Amino acid sequence: MPEAAHIDHASSPDAPAPTGPVVELRALRKRFGKQVVLDGIDLSIERGKTTVILGPSGSGKSVLLKCIVGLLRPDSGEVSFCGQRIDNLSESRYARIRRHIGFVFQLSALFDSMDVFENLAFPFREHTNLKETEIRRRVIRALRLVDLRDIEYKLPAQLSGGQQKRVAVARAIIQEPELVLYDEPTTGLDPVRAQGINALIRKLQRELGVTSIIVTHDLESARTVGDRVLLLYGGKFIADGTFQDVSTSTDPQVHAFFSGKAETRDSIEAEHHSHVLALSTAKLPSTATPVAQEPPIAEDAGEPAPSDPRTDAS
Ligand SMILES: Nc1ncnc2c1ncn2[C@@H]1O[C@H](COP(=O)(O)OP(=O)(O)OP(=O)(O)O)[C@@H](O)[C@H]1O
Ligand SMILES: [Mg+2]
Repeated sequence: MPEAAHIDHASSPDAPAPTGPVVELRALRKRFGKQVVLDGIDLSIERGKTTVILGPSGSGKSVLLKCIVGLLRPDSGEVSFCGQRIDNLSESRYARIRRHIGFVFQLSALFDSMDVFENLAFPFREHTNLKETEIRRRVIRALRLVDLRDIEYKLPAQLSGGQQKRVAVARAIIQEPELVLYDEPTTGLDPVRAQGINALIRKLQRELGVTSIIVTHDLESARTVGDRVLLLYGGKFIADGTFQDVSTSTDPQVHAFFSGKAETRDSIEAEHHSHVLALSTAKLPSTATPVAQEPPIAEDAGEPAPSDPRTDAS
């Protein structure tokens, strides 16, 4: 049995059941003020698989991950983890569930003032009584898994971007979680290092049998690591299948994303609108009323500027 899948169910009442979907979302809704970000999301994540969630900047990918891990609570709908409903748990109960979920944040989110060793040892020091020799063994093992050696005493600022991502991945897997969530794991890396992270995600799935959800707008990453690919747009999934299925979809909104015209919601809307207009003018007399267009959802001014998904690894 893969080590990552092993949880002592007898001794931990919060330990999730080892069969069935790892995550289930039902009719999940999340809004900020008038901005509807998730508009009724249904999703079932199969054990041991890598699921990639694509979507333009601001489409709600990070919000979705945060709703799974409980950093945000949905307005309505349900989140279940290994068969147990968790969205309605108290913060202290959720914190215990979170130990079974590794999270690689969009910005690696390492503790700046702690060296790599202490960053990785932190969850053990916080939540366990493990002896120092055992903590050391686990830290070194996690660093080997992500192909890092001899950097334990460096501070995050003394690491390259690719090394920081690897340390963030090591921290996410060090407690042998059931599920690892990656938020834009290749953003900001050059193509070689981005490929290295993709290979690492694959290796962890192979060697640890871990279930992963990756949100990204990096199409190459989706192609390389995704057993299943979904496209989030307008608060819903508008495509679901293999990378091949989704990337060759003839749906205008999906096509707009894959053909590089969909960096923002507005441009997907424009693509969709022009496609519908083209169809309608082909079928209707030229005096036909233009097809009504949904108003685009307001973009958020506070988000960091997105990079182009197809050159994202720069
Ligand atoms: N805590 C919050 N309060 C208010 N608005 C928020 C909050 N978190 C996210 N949003 C808004 O929700 C929308 C979706 O944000 P999210 O971070 O999920 O986008 P994303 O798909 O991850 O984008 P990117 O690819 O740029 O990371 C954005 O408009 C964002 O500003
Ligand atoms: Mg994001």
